[in-house]
Amino acid sequence: MLPNIPTTRAWNAKARRPIRLAAAFAALLAVAPGCTDMYDQAKYEPYEASPLFANGAASRPLVQGTVPHEDPRGLPKVEDRDLLVTGLKDGLPSKVTPFPIDREALERGRNRYNIYCTPCHGIAGDGRGVIVQRGFTKPPAYTEARLVDSPIGHFYQVMSNGHGAMYSFAARIAPQDRWKIAAYIRALQLSQGAVPSELPPEDQSKLQEAAR
Ligand code: HEC
Repeated sequence: MLPNIPTTRAWNAKARRPIRLAAAFAALLAVAPGCTDMYDQAKYEPYEASPLFANGAASRPLVQGTVPHEDPRGLPKVEDRDLLVTGLKDGLPSKVTPFPIDREALERGRNRYNIYCTPCHGIAGDGRGVIVQRGFTKPPAYTEARLVDSPIGHFYQVMSNGHGAMYSFAARIAPQDRWKIAAYIRALQLSQGAVPSELPPEDQSKLQEAAR
């Protein structure tokens, strides 16, 4: 006898399996009309229009001041919650961040920037991301004088509220991360407008070597 040939009984059990599966599937279909009713009931889909609200959108913004109560990622504690959420200080775009920016915060900012912003703004922030190369409105380069001179709160606000052709990221990026991205944009601006004499000595010598 050849090895591994299934006995008739085992063979039958195997052959019955698809039949049992089909029966279970048919039973599911039988209850499906109930589910379809729920699916089809009157309700707003995300981003659907509604005449009920002044701005014509069914999705409502979070209540002013809403931020996650606890954050499992251990986001920084913040004294000035208004600044954290609005980006404003005394009614104007803030010149300071609501928590200190360290290397870790900048790394997080770079990580989020590369995910959310590079498709349009490009990895260096020059406004030549792939979506723009395929026809989307070109954003300004972050190195434009007006943006270099803008307070950091302006970048926070652009992300939070959207700006012209750019949509808001408030629903996708937590306030703390928006500030870290804003800080990273500052780093991008600095990196492209750096004065050699302001670099650390080891970088200055690297520059001189490269120029040789
Ligand atoms: C889908 C493309 C797109 C994405 C993604 C995008 N932006 Fe923009 N952004 C634009 C466009 C287009 C403009 C120019 C808008 C205008 O002036 O009408 C702009 C403008 C800006 C400006 C300049 C505002 C000013 O004062 O002129 C900043 C700052 C900015 N974006 C930051 C960001 C950040 C940070 C992210 C990621 C969180 C991001 N953008 C993601 C398209 C995008």
